[in-house]
Amino acid sequence: MQNQIRLNINNDEVLENQYYINEIRRTNDDFFLSFNEKKKFHIITYGCQMNEHDSEKLTAMLKNMGYEETDSYETADIIIFNTCAVRENAELRVYGNLGHIKHIKKTKKDLILAVSGCMMQQPHIVEEIKKKYKYVDLVFGTHNVHNFPKLLSSVYEEKKQIIEVWNSEGRILEGMPYERKLGLKAYVNIMYGCNNFCTYCIVPYTRGRERSREKENIIDEVNKLVQDGVKEITLLGQNVNSYGTTFEELYDFADLLEDVSKIDGIERIRFMTSHPKDLSDKLIYIIKDNPKVCEYVHLPIQSGSNAILKSMNRKYTREDYLEIVRKLKENIPNVSLSTDIIIGFPGETEEDVDATIELIEEVGYDSAFTFIYSKREGTPAARFEQHIPNDVQHKRFEKMLSVLNKTVIARNKTRMGEVYEVLVEDRAKKDTDFLIGRSRENYLITFKGSNDLIGKLVDVKITNPKNFSMEGEIINTPVL
Ligand code: SAH
Ligand code: SF4
Ligand code: F3S
Repeated sequence: MQNQIRLNINNDEVLENQYYINEIRRTNDDFFLSFNEKKKFHIITYGCQMNEHDSEKLTAMLKNMGYEETDSYETADIIIFNTCAVRENAELRVYGNLGHIKHIKKTKKDLILAVSGCMMQQPHIVEEIKKKYKYVDLVFGTHNVHNFPKLLSSVYEEKKQIIEVWNSEGRILEGMPYERKLGLKAYVNIMYGCNNFCTYCIVPYTRGRERSREKENIIDEVNKLVQDGVKEITLLGQNVNSYGTTFEELYDFADLLEDVSKIDGIERIRFMTSHPKDLSDKLIYIIKDNPKVCEYVHLPIQSGSNAILKSMNRKYTREDYLEIVRKLKENIPNVSLSTDIIIGFPGETEEDVDATIELIEEVGYDSAFTFIYSKREGTPAARFEQHIPNDVQHKRFEKMLSVLNKTVIARNKTRMGEVYEVLVEDRAKKDTDFLIGRSRENYLITFKGSNDLIGKLVDVKITNPKNFSMEGEIINTPVL
């Protein structure tokens, strides 16, 4: 399902870009009348949901300008790489792909190549593009996505490389129309940027300072999503627990969860990411008491060693973290926990890794995202001493991962015979009898059933807990 969402369109920047949208659309309409086909665009998105969301905005603007989406480089007239800077390998992939496009550009002179996103917020990257990738037509950053129509118009007019990267975030711009692929589930941004400056992390530099969206705009967006059939929403921010700290009135993340849960038609509410330093008791009670808020918390630990946590500037200790986990488990017996872990941070010892491994076993995570530390230019940790050699990082990573996998698999195996409420999302694969969905705890579950169950909540009893997913059978079929 595709839909367009408009939120109070009323300010000058929106109107200015609307002007450029209309202008380009007129040219594209003429093209269509002459050739009976539309010009096409292809967007490649790297990184997190913030970037996916920006790509949705770009998609909407391009469609409004009369372009049509295509999923191949070869057929596109405009290619956009929306980049991520969080780890080096994400950046290397972008450079590799830009090299590939160079060949296509040789035969297709009119092709427009744009790069945007977090990588572009770093001046040394923009310099690199200017020097080595002269065939890139347009460079813009995370703070001026909304200006894309104006920038594209300049590319057509000026026929030279256009670079416009804003280095500060300004205010939150509500009201840009955007198109999203809607299914049963949708992400909703509740805040942008980050103030935490973990010493390894580039995000505060690429996404700017933390800004919370007004609750009215969030509620308005969720209401519209519900009208379009969305049943589950995930509220997004780099640290949702500090939502609202810049507001004059006292209104925090737990209050927002309460208000969103009052919206009729929303059946499940999830959120991420929770920074452990800001997770309040009030939030724990809302997860416990509010039936729409799912019993799943993504709570990145990063390291189980206090020395490393301090050096990472995470502002909590191992003991603080374990205390939050204890409270969560005490109040919400079926709570499911996932985390992020970084191995190979500068100064890390074997004992630090062992501390992380012990913590993994103690908490009993249901899943985890694991990373090898990647040096990011401009972050404090890049200047730290004692960077860990690559082969040592990899050895430590493997050691941690084998324990993590064992823990996750062992937990999964205990779920034989348990019953979970599952939101049915789709067929598990093409041409199979199996459907797939997630439980409130975010467990991935497959089971036999017919297509008309898609979009429904069903109870599934686990008959075959596998390593990282579970198979089961429906024990109640809703009235269809
Ligand atoms: N705001 C979220 C996460 C944002 S980035 C939070 O605070 O948890 C997602 C994850 O990428 C981080 O949790 C961290 O584990 C990882 N990460 C960030 N910078 C990294 C780096 N330089 N090297 C390796 N992993 C990194
Ligand atoms: Fe990065 Fe830390 Fe902010 Fe997360 S909280 S985005 S890890 S600086
Ligand atoms: Fe996201 Fe990557 Fe930027 S994780 S905020 S797209 S650096």
